Amino acid sequence: MKLTNKVALITGGTSGIGLETAKRFRDEGAHVIVTGINPARLEEAKKELGPEAMVISADLRKVAEVDRVFKTISARYDHIDVLFANAGAGTAAPLEAVTDEQIDDQFALNFKGIFFTVQKASPLLVKGSSVILTTSFLNRVGAPGLSILSASKAAVRSLALTLGAELAPRGIRVNAISPGPISTPFHGKLGLSDADLSAVAASIEAQVPLGRFGEANEIASAVVFLASDDSSFMTGSEVIVDGGISHF
Ligand SMILES: NC(=O)c1ccc[n+]([C@@H]2O[C@H](COP(=O)([O-])OP(=O)(O)OC[C@H]3O[C@@H](n4cnc5c(N)ncnc54)[C@H](OP(=O)(O)O)[C@@H]3O)[C@@H](O)[C@H]2O)c1
Repeated sequence: MKLTNKVALITGGTSGIGLETAKRFRDEGAHVIVTGINPARLEEAKKELGPEAMVISADLRKVAEVDRVFKTISARYDHIDVLFANAGAGTAAPLEAVTDEQIDDQFALNFKGIFFTVQKASPLLVKGSSVILTTSFLNRVGAPGLSILSASKAAVRSLALTLGAELAPRGIRVNAISPGPISTPFHGKLGLSDADLSAVAASIEAQVPLGRFGEANEIASAVVFLASDDSSFMTGSEVIVDGGISHF
């Protein structure tokens, strides 16, 4: 097992990529902590991850909530070995329809949420800890209607470089995982009508050189690699798992 006795926090660990990764971390021997926000999905994650897992409800757009997550964790664990800062969401809107509120909301979760998660985790991180930040193929590809989501993900890619440099002297690695289009509930939350969602999905699928959406477990495999000592000489990297969509 690659993560025996490691303490691992996965934000956005109640759904999609985060939940699949939490299961893989658990199966690799880790003590798993997940956060989410939707009560039904929090309950479902408790059942799926089993009694040992910590499941914490927190809206990571609010710094006080991020703070509370780490106070809760500190009551049980005195350190964190693996931090997968993964919670994220997006709203689709063309240039002329984007609002001030949409920009604040997406940056509050996708950028500030990740930034303060790492900042508040920092006192618990130890030499050898691995931090993984979820960016997106959208940080490299121009997709109409996704300007704010894409920009927030480009900011996360940048953070992996800066925080990687800041934390390297402590022996802490920081890398980014960049998923392509993955079959998760994410797309259903973009605020599109069913008809628009089907059209967007078909159009994205046609652009993926491997001809399909990826599965959450294909991202989880790469995150296990980044979390474990198998990637011990990697920091500041972006691991792209996207069926080729950002390359060709
Ligand atoms: N799916 C893709 O095609 C794709 C592609 C590239 C990058 N990504 C990135 O991958 C990450 C995971 O997405 P996913 O596809 O697994 O989507 P998902 O199934 O919707 O999972 C998103 C997770 O983030 C949590 N979350 C949402 N709003 C939150 C908030 N305000 N505070 C705290 N947690 C919140 C969700 O909690 P609840 O379930 O409780 O709402 C859920 O656990 C995201 O950062 C996303 O941008 C996804």
